Amino acid sequence: MATTESETLDVAAIREDFPILEREFGGEQLVYLDNAATSQTPEPVVETIADYYRETNANIHRGLHQLSQEASVAYEQAHDRLAEFVGASGGRKELVFTRNTTEGENLVAYSWGLSELGPGDTVVTTEMEHHASLVTWQQIAKRTGADVEFIRVDETGHLDMEHAKELITDDTQMVSAVHISNTLGTINPVAELCELADDHDALSFIDGAQSAPTMPVDVEEMGADFYAFSGHKMAGPTGIGCLYGREELLAEMDPFNYGGEMIRRVTYEDATWNEVPWKFEAGTPAIAQGIALAAAADYLDDIGMERVERHERELAEYALERLAEFDDIDVFGPGAGEPRGGLVAFDVDGVHAHDLSEVLNDYSIAVRAGHHCTQPLHDKFGVTATARASFYIYNTESEIDALVAAIDDARQLFA
Ligand SMILES: Cc1ncc(COP(=O)(O)O)c(C=O)c1O
Repeated sequence: MATTESETLDVAAIREDFPILEREFGGEQLVYLDNAATSQTPEPVVETIADYYRETNANIHRGLHQLSQEASVAYEQAHDRLAEFVGASGGRKELVFTRNTTEGENLVAYSWGLSELGPGDTVVTTEMEHHASLVTWQQIAKRTGADVEFIRVDETGHLDMEHAKELITDDTQMVSAVHISNTLGTINPVAELCELADDHDALSFIDGAQSAPTMPVDVEEMGADFYAFSGHKMAGPTGIGCLYGREELLAEMDPFNYGGEMIRRVTYEDATWNEVPWKFEAGTPAIAQGIALAAAADYLDDIGMERVERHERELAEYALERLAEFDDIDVFGPGAGEPRGGLVAFDVDGVHAHDLSEVLNDYSIAVRAGHHCTQPLHDKFGVTATARASFYIYNTESEIDALVAAIDDARQLFA
């Protein structure tokens, strides 16, 4: 893939790597604006998967034969590559492959939370959490007797950091926060939250589902104890995600799932555990997907994550500007000129988000409609559903123009 040396992305060259963007429905070319749900997969990543099955496919760590050895080495190295991608200097000792962000959340909540939380303890999280985090901590708290407390989100979509300072106390065992809200686009001050956690000897968990794909991430600079993200939102395959955890924490934690691969020695009475990350990867893992995720990290790093971030920001800014032309459209989250992830959720007065997305679909424009797995946040803002347009490396301002024109048509249709 060719990129220019300029500050901006060579979007035309990037688009050539994504043939799916050429698809047409009813004669209209696809405008894919549902990237916060799942991004598209570039040819080098698709080729990595295909090559794996053509040339290397075998189970890992179990065969002494050549294919198994090649698959094992590639899969292991993929862990190091993803650790590097998020700035984890411990390599594979700090990077577990999961199925997705949700599984990373559950892994920590079950392995760490079930044994470490109890009555009187608090898990401090935010009102803008994705259900992957919110429901997980809520249910683990019910089982352990701990309390979950929520840092307030103000009307502008920012965290109330004074409230955070009140909630994070010596009773707090875990501070769990989303890095970029998948509904508001807010980029949270996660380093500050991690520091607050640390000041009170609590651990921190950062949900990186929307940040790892869209901005440079350095978990060590951030000070996070855990950081989880999904492959399918960062130009990688489905079925694979990552959990970063500080080496000493992962080494101490109990396994999440039991079975093959995660053991060192088994008797009829007991078992001992393999080293990290294999201790947390029971059974045959998603080998092809893990290897292809490393290819996705290469692809994004070739483009440059600073450029990706700038492109996201510019498109979000442009979308905010265009949507501001309508006084019956409410946009949620930080306003124009403020730092923001590359997504915009909005409500068109008198048009339900589902109706809107159906009309947009008639124009071959793919957006998301619903509560985006942040139902309590939607309740807080008094809406049942919003429409969300989310951008990635291949999106353009003219696609946003197409979106805005189609929204205008929908407004008139339902007026
Ligand atoms: C902020 C955030 N957290 C967690 C998730 C869950 O990701 P996955 O479904 O890949 O586990 C998402 C997905 O939309 C998300 O946007």
